[in-house]
Amino acid sequence: MKTTPSGADASAAPEFGSKTAPARGIIARRASAFDSSGIRRAFDLAASLDNPINLSIGQPDFPMPVEASRAAISAIEAGRNGYTPTQGIAPLREKLLAQVEAELGPADRGLCITSGASGGLVLALMALLDPGDEVIIFEPAFVMYRPLIEFFGGRCVAIDTSPSFTIDVDQVAAAITPATRAILLNSPSNPTGYVVPADIVCDLARLAESHGVRLISDELYRSYCYDEPFVTPARYSDQVLVIDGFSKSHAMTGWRVGSLHGPKKLVDACATLQQYTFVCSPQVGQWAALAAMESDMGAPLEACRRKRDRLIEGLQGHYRFIKPGGAFYLYPEAPGGSGEAFAQRAVREEKLIVVPGNVFGKSDTHIRMAYTVSDATLERGIAALRRLAESAE
Ligand SMILES: Cc1ncc(COP(=O)(O)O)c(C=O)c1O
Repeated sequence: MKTTPSGADASAAPEFGSKTAPARGIIARRASAFDSSGIRRAFDLAASLDNPINLSIGQPDFPMPVEASRAAISAIEAGRNGYTPTQGIAPLREKLLAQVEAELGPADRGLCITSGASGGLVLALMALLDPGDEVIIFEPAFVMYRPLIEFFGGRCVAIDTSPSFTIDVDQVAAAITPATRAILLNSPSNPTGYVVPADIVCDLARLAESHGVRLISDELYRSYCYDEPFVTPARYSDQVLVIDGFSKSHAMTGWRVGSLHGPKKLVDACATLQQYTFVCSPQVGQWAALAAMESDMGAPLEACRRKRDRLIEGLQGHYRFIKPGGAFYLYPEAPGGSGEAFAQRAVREEKLIVVPGNVFGKSDTHIRMAYTVSDATLERGIAALRRLAESAE
């Protein structure tokens, strides 16, 4: 029998490079199934236009806190450039855990620093899902949810919350099957800016716990709550897994520092998976994040609220929308009915970039605009949006 160097029977397998080897694509089916994100396409489009009005970018327009910049520079100069423990540097973990305990009371929760909130989502879904498991999401939803769930062999069960964006807990209960593994909640929401009211948050947490289903709470925008204080479902159930991070709260999207916290066994599993994937969140970013926790973010958050109010006032009577209570997005219905058609017309006629709603789910009825731009750009945007709405009538 012909054997390979490791002793395995090689007769069944064609030799590497042999003409009889079955043809394979350049990339795996998994990778070719995913389209480049519509938001990424908007980024590329913005780069190709001269002086566009770009309302497509979901990141703060204020600088990261000066304390954080200084801490990053000091960390580099002190040679803190290597790996950190997978779970993150101790001072940051301790400070975050103290913050969580101050909010939720002392409990046996684990906490792991992740490579941005995206890293936390990847680890959480990787730790939770076996092929065929179902995850309930609420559409319109953050672009990563469906691809990540499917990436790990899961099945996405999408509940359409349009046009009010409210969550019907009975509908969620009816969607739970023996295959349901998790419910993925994001409040305040990207893309709608909708904040789920406290009573629904509480009902969802209790529903998930009573069915033995994991509630994953993506709280990346929790600091952007304009009208009511933020309420986490972890307040009502110690089984909730929370995803958080510094990207939006402290304008640190490029530093890749997030965290997840929840039941210790699950967090430990996530940390083990991080060891074999991301290894750790970048060390310099972690020191910057630690310093950022000392910063007063009141002024930039207030500026954001002012921009929300100005955009709402500027578009009132021209667009139909639900007033967003949080995050930094407005999600109006697209004049003319199609988000995709409107987004294309906006670029053509006004050099205005917005994201069509079909990026966030099956329906193409809305557009997303991020109002984290300068006051001058916001005013240009409002004027352009009014003209576009008028010419659609
Ligand atoms: C709802 C939501 N979750 C997670 C992320 C990922 O954030 P990060 O940049 O921290 O990976 C984003 C980014 O836009 C988001 O909007």
